[in-house]
Amino acid sequence: MARLPREGSELSGGIEFDEQTSRKVEALYLTSDVVAQRHHVRGLLDVADGERVLDIGSGPGLLAHELAAIVGPTGRVCGIDTSEDMLAMSGARCADQPWVEFGSADATALGYADEAFDAAVSTQVYEYVPDVPAALGELYRVLRPGGRAVIVDSDWDSIAIHTENEERMTRVLAAWDEHFVHSRLPRTLGPSLRAAGFTIRVQDVVPLFNPKYTDDTYAKHTLQIIAGFVVGRKGVTEREAAAWHAEFAELAARGRFFLNLNRYFFVVDKPAAVDT
Ligand SMILES: C[S@@+](CC[C@H](N)C(=O)[O-])C[C@H]1O[C@@H](n2cnc3c(N)ncnc32)[C@H](O)[C@@H]1O
Repeated sequence: MARLPREGSELSGGIEFDEQTSRKVEALYLTSDVVAQRHHVRGLLDVADGERVLDIGSGPGLLAHELAAIVGPTGRVCGIDTSEDMLAMSGARCADQPWVEFGSADATALGYADEAFDAAVSTQVYEYVPDVPAALGELYRVLRPGGRAVIVDSDWDSIAIHTENEERMTRVLAAWDEHFVHSRLPRTLGPSLRAAGFTIRVQDVVPLFNPKYTDDTYAKHTLQIIAGFVVGRKGVTEREAAAWHAEFAELAARGRFFLNLNRYFFVVDKPAAVDT
């Protein structure tokens, strides 16, 4: 497959998944909430022994590792990502699965042959990709006729967090919006998938609901990542970000913590070849 130079990561709107961020994302993805999400994705993708699977934006490699255990050594799992730090993490995670390979590539230039895969998956990635139609065109190209894909993205406008300081919350979330290229991608993903040639089998929303603030929650890890990201953006100071972050422990201590985020799941099929 084609290898991209390191600056490939800049194709994604300048969002850098460096080593520190990658470690935080890995810790977040080990929480029960995200373990359950991967279980749901695996059920939707429904891979079988011997299949060839592509994970686009494979990140720390948790899903690739789980899929590889299902397809086994007669199958193949390939992961691509623009972050060298993520690729190092995923490569180490799957070192005992020689039928898995990871490579540096952008979602818009996958570097694999036409029709190379039975199935593909991309979770929480297209929201960072500037040219979504190009990425979906690549997804379509590398799937065999009759192949399928599962795509997951969040609608960050759906985030509901209880606070006693609404004005500060609004500004912090406006600063967090800069983390994404498309923070509301699910609203247009269905039409974009159809325009790329796919038929949509399933469109679903799964709320990520945390009425508690403990180490094993999506909420606790995500709010920590947000608190670090927003400093210096949209006028949010370090002190203000820290105060915003500190509120959640206080609310939790009073039994008043609440966070919900809607995640959208799409299962799509590339039409089977038609005999002429
Ligand atoms: C939020 S993480 C999700 C990781 C993984 N899909 C998962 O759910 O565990 C987003 C990942 O997408 C990668 N990424 C961002 N833009 C990309 C692009 N244009 N092409 C390929 N990967 C990209 C990042 O480097 C990062 O590893």
